[in-house]
Amino acid sequence: MAKSILKDGQELLIRPAEESDAEQLVAYMNLVGGESDFLTYGENECRFTVEGEKQFLRDQSENPANLFLVGFVGGELACSANLAAESKKRIAHNCELGITVRKKYWRQGAASALLTELIRFARETGTLKAIHLDVYANNVNAIRLYEKFGFQAVGRIRNYFRVDDRYYDDLIMDLSL
Ligand SMILES: CC(C)(COP(=O)(O)OP(=O)(O)OC[C@H]1O[C@@H](n2cnc3c(N)ncnc32)[C@H](O)[C@@H]1OP(=O)(O)O)[C@@H](O)C(=O)NCCC(=O)NCCS
Repeated sequence: MAKSILKDGQELLIRPAEESDAEQLVAYMNLVGGESDFLTYGENECRFTVEGEKQFLRDQSENPANLFLVGFVGGELACSANLAAESKKRIAHNCELGITVRKKYWRQGAASALLTELIRFARETGTLKAIHLDVYANNVNAIRLYEKFGFQAVGRIRNYFRVDDRYYDDLIMDLSL
């Protein structure tokens, strides 16, 4: 469990997700999907049922290089982030990062607190050598956040995302550990 103080003075408690968080997580994803056009899903488009989310949490916990973090403010799920490591031996030193913050907590330092924890964890595994991520190439705020933590843009897939019939490039960034 990690504690951090948000810019508005509220306490953010960060811990690994548990199966009992599944219901809250599904509701959270259905909500944050509608708060940003920079995700791969929209409002009420969470791909999992509560049971499916429980299974996902169980499956991901089987690889010790995976980490799924949740952050709470006053008991409310405020943010989440995860590292998903590759399982095939030849690429097992890589992991993929995903992160979301509820809109009402944006710009308070929540994503920075999550990233600090994930990067520390990744370094401590000893097996992970790089973190990769995909970000909408026009998501300047997220790109700035990642650059602050040392991520570099290393590639681009054109027209990878489609939102309301408009296409956006995918910027691939990585951090060498
Ligand atoms: C991008 C996102 C994760 C940032 O979360 P956050 O908790 O608001 O980020 P932080 O408060 O830790 O900000 C860290 C840095 O990111 C940059 N940043 C974040 N939001 C910003 C904004 N609205 N304007 C300018 N810079 C911003 C800044 O460099 C900021 O540092 P600063 O506050 O010292 O200037 C959050 O806005 C979000 O969930 N957005 C929707 C989903 C999304 O885009 N996810 C990323 C998918 S790749």
